[in-house]
Order: sequence, then structure tokens, then C-alpha cells
Amino acid sequence: MFTLNINGLRRQIDLPSDTPLLWALRDYLGLTGTKFGCGISACGVCTVHANGEAIRACVTPISAVVDKQIVTIEAIDQDEIGKKVQDAWLSVNVPQCGYCQPGQVMAATALLKHTPKPTDADIDKAMSGNLCRCGTYPRIRAAIKQVAGSTEVSS
Ligand code: FES
Ligand code: FES
Repeated sequence: MFTLNINGLRRQIDLPSDTPLLWALRDYLGLTGTKFGCGISACGVCTVHANGEAIRACVTPISAVVDKQIVTIEAIDQDEIGKKVQDAWLSVNVPQCGYCQPGQVMAATALLKHTPKPTDADIDKAMSGNLCRCGTYPRIRAAIKQVAGSTEVSS
């Protein structure tokens, strides 16, 4: 039995220690906003925060996060920066099919919490592991720059 801090709540999880956090979130706790894509840390769709850092829930065992504050897309609007990111996502109309977007929002929020005024290189580095088969990258960049207070948009 593990106790994890998920979105500010202590949650009891009766699963083996090597269970990926993604399955604990989706299958055990019903937090299905975090998506499954590749399962091998290659697409970023399962991105959540652990103590404010973006991590891949598909390759993170629950035993590795027992002492961490986990935040998922379901609660990112309770974070000041996360709320701004979501508002910018709507303003710029970022999503297309939407499947990758929870992971994109989590990655962008982690970036902006650490680097409030990211350069293009900062954005590329932080977001390069989050794939979007719909090609929303220019709008993702625009939304990040909107949060950063910049009007400069490049693709
Ligand atoms: S499902 Fe975790 S990185 Fe692809
Ligand atoms: S919006 Fe469709 S995969 Fe990114």
C-alpha cells in the first residue's frame, strides 16, 4: 500500500511498487486526463509534475514518488502559472485533436515556472519531448510566449 500526494490530496494506492504512475493515475484513481501514448518516455503525452518538475508518468514507478507532490492536468488550473497557460491555450486556440495537449500544458507550465521569459531555445529544449501528430507546435509556442508576456511569435 502506498500513499501518494496527488493534486493536494493523500491517496491510498494498493498496487505493486513498480506500477507505473500513469496506471495508478488512470486506472486506479480514475484521473484519465493524463494520456497514454508510447509507454517508453518518447512522446510526452503522460507528462505530470513531481515537485514542480515535468516527469513521464509512464516510466515512473509509484515507489519513486511517494515523497513528492504530484500534480496532474486535472489540477493544473489551481497553479497560478498553470491557469495562465490554460487561458493562453484557449486564447491561441492551440489544440487540434487534443490528445497530446494535457502533456503539452504540463510541460509548458513546468517550463514557465522555472523560466518565466523563455527564449526560443528554452522553449525548444523544454518542449522537444512532447510530440504532436497534429502539428500544433507554432500555436504552442505562441501560447507560451503569450504567458511570458511577449508579443514575438516565431514558428
Ligand atoms: S506515454 Fe509516456 S512518454 Fe509517451
Ligand atoms: S493536438 Fe492532436 S496530437 Fe497534438
